[in-house]
Amino acid sequence: MDSKTEINRKISVAPMMDCTDRHDRFFLRLMSKNVMLYTEMVATKSAIHGDRKKILSFSKEEKPLALQVGGSNKGELAEVAKIAEDMGYDEININLGCPSKKVQKNKFGACLMKEPELVAECIDSMVNACKIPVTAKTRIGFDDVENFDYLNNFIRQMRDAGAKTFILHARKAMLSGLSPKQNLNIPKLNYNMVYKIKKENPNLEIIINGGITKVSEIKDHLNHCDGVMIGRSIYQNPYSLVEIEKEIFNIDNSPTREQVVQKLLEYLDKEVKEGTKVNHIMRHTVGLYHGQVGSKEWKRYLSDNMMARDSDFQKAKHIMTIVQNNEKANQTSQ
Ligand SMILES: Cc1cc2nc3c(=O)[nH]c(=O)nc-3n(C[C@H](O)[C@H](O)[C@H](O)COP(=O)(O)O)c2cc1C
Repeated sequence: MDSKTEINRKISVAPMMDCTDRHDRFFLRLMSKNVMLYTEMVATKSAIHGDRKKILSFSKEEKPLALQVGGSNKGELAEVAKIAEDMGYDEININLGCPSKKVQKNKFGACLMKEPELVAECIDSMVNACKIPVTAKTRIGFDDVENFDYLNNFIRQMRDAGAKTFILHARKAMLSGLSPKQNLNIPKLNYNMVYKIKKENPNLEIIINGGITKVSEIKDHLNHCDGVMIGRSIYQNPYSLVEIEKEIFNIDNSPTREQVVQKLLEYLDKEVKEGTKVNHIMRHTVGLYHGQVGSKEWKRYLSDNMMARDSDFQKAKHIMTIVQNNEKANQTSQ
């Protein structure tokens, strides 16, 4: 597979477990050719010993694409970096931001912020194992540590090991006392900390993440950072990518929602023949009509029909009926 796809990290969609799987990424790509995409986090052991086709395969349409990995074993991380390169991924990203108990037990994610030397060794072994960029996604602090010098030293140690791009979720991680969901909302956002990291390290690529939903906010952040990563708001309202294409990348000929569904149904047809379940693809489209006339009907239609058994998958084709009805409703309401 061609691994020389150009990478532009001005806007990226955040890695999200149970959300940004290969079907979701294919769907998102129908609306944006320019954003950078990330896989869900894959543990090193799964990537090495698991069913590689199931866990790591992707369609070439998804590129440019980064594999996000979770781990802290240098040898395993190096092996996964090489696997990622060989499979045609454009970047390998290490997760240093997930605070979940399970992830901590396996010694990866945000708890690694406590061990900058170990992280630097991990980065070094990945950099030496592949030619694709090795990047890191982390938080601005953990527990009672939310300190510029600590974060800056952490980043500089990773820089010295060979990483040049850092994605900073602008809130600290609480390693105990908060659920993963609370950890995405309760610690306060501190964008200034990220801006300051960029200011003090002008040669590093600094991507800001956390709580960003509007194009106006994206534009503001781009005055201080190299890129913006967005997670939940794109998953909830995927068609907002079209606005991003227009406002940030000056692309005007984006597809309508109906054209997106048409293309996705072609993909669905092919995938179902290969054994994929209808709902594994269509579940990612629940938010496609977010804020539109017919949004409720779309959601109801999906929940009534997307559990169609594979043998019965022709039912999914009826999704087009509601798409066309929505199109008419939207035209008359404009
Ligand atoms: C459902 C869900 C799953 C997530 N899974 C991951 C993950 O696998 N790896 C990771 O680095 N971050 C993960 N995150 C965190 C996001 O990448 C992102 O940092 C966070 O949601 C903040 O960005 P947002 O406010 O734009 O959503 C997840 C977030 C959510 C909501």
